[in-house]
Amino acid sequence: MYRPVHITESIYYVGVNDRRKSLFENQLPLPYGVSYNSYLIKDEKIALIDTVDACFFDPFLKKIEAAIGDRKIDYLIVNHMEPDHAGSIRFIRERYPDIRIVGNTKTIEMINGYFEITDNLQEVKDGTILELGKHQLSFTLTPMVHWPETMMTYDITEKVLFSGDAFGCFGALDGGVIDQTMNLDKFWSEMRRYYACIVGKYGVPVQNALAKLQGVEINYICSTHGPVWKEQIEKVVNSYSRWSRYEAEAGVVIAYGTMYGNTEQMAEAIAEGVIAGGVKNVVLHNVSQTDASFILSDIFRYSGLVLGSPTYMNELLPGVESLLRKLEVRQVKNRIFASFGSFTWAGVSIKRIAPVVEGLKWNVVGSVEEKQALKQEKYNECFSLGMDIAHKIRC
Ligand code: FEO
Repeated sequence: MYRPVHITESIYYVGVNDRRKSLFENQLPLPYGVSYNSYLIKDEKIALIDTVDACFFDPFLKKIEAAIGDRKIDYLIVNHMEPDHAGSIRFIRERYPDIRIVGNTKTIEMINGYFEITDNLQEVKDGTILELGKHQLSFTLTPMVHWPETMMTYDITEKVLFSGDAFGCFGALDGGVIDQTMNLDKFWSEMRRYYACIVGKYGVPVQNALAKLQGVEINYICSTHGPVWKEQIEKVVNSYSRWSRYEAEAGVVIAYGTMYGNTEQMAEAIAEGVIAGGVKNVVLHNVSQTDASFILSDIFRYSGLVLGSPTYMNELLPGVESLLRKLEVRQVKNRIFASFGSFTWAGVSIKRIAPVVEGLKWNVVGSVEEKQALKQEKYNECFSLGMDIAHKIRC
């Protein structure tokens, strides 16, 4: 038998872990898996908040039944329509045919679009109150965090915020649900990677959502991924606030492509210069070896970025090009930047990087380019470039 998992006396966790999927959204590695969180509020009326990936409907339903037995669910509140959360809507409706699905105008359009469901829908707006008995729920629309229909549900009675993807992270839950009962080590970096890859383009909408939450008393944040936050609420909200403003710690990411190691030698020399300049946080990423999601995560963390590429077919090496495009899409701001590259007969890579960086208005410290193998003179220039970056970061 499954057992009910309580967040509070009348709020239950009914989410599931996915330890089989290797790529989230079929593109982002999941070294620690991922959880799809769903919650039940049991009162005179019962509300289910979000569902789970359709592949997990069977354990999901067993968890629901462990919490409420044969009682029916009155409301399904849909904070977010992405299929990792909305995937079981059709099955839930088949199991609980009288359930009313609650969402905003955009949610309801999407429910029609994904499931062709057009009846038993209840539209809510910013500030609408839904009464369950003792529990009163209010809804806050948070468009573009990170889809247009995203909203949050606040339990006024118990001061619990059901935040959708916001404040969530990769990483399956290893037996615990609430932060204070768990070792959180893996979740902090996975939260930043989640933010950088999925929410990172939407800094302003995140700030708007945070502004709406200002002054709201919160005992628990129940996100759709990762732990329920109780003790760490301040830390997770501050992290979102920082990342959405593209604020960063002192440190340098050196991301480079390399074919035969010549550009890589330049990266090593720049790193030595950064360390000599007194900045301890230096991370080197070979774009052909490290998945871009981890590089993006570090770029959201640190204030300095150095990008290098050999010239390849008169362009950037594809992995560097792809990373640069990801940064452009996310409009990453406020970075101290330098570039480097090597070539055999025609140097182009630095020229390809420059216009993107100009568009992002980064603070450019300089660049170094070498023809063929790295020689002493250019080694010295790389080292000096690293020192200059460190100096800018420390100022
Ligand atoms: Fe976890 Fe945006 O879906």
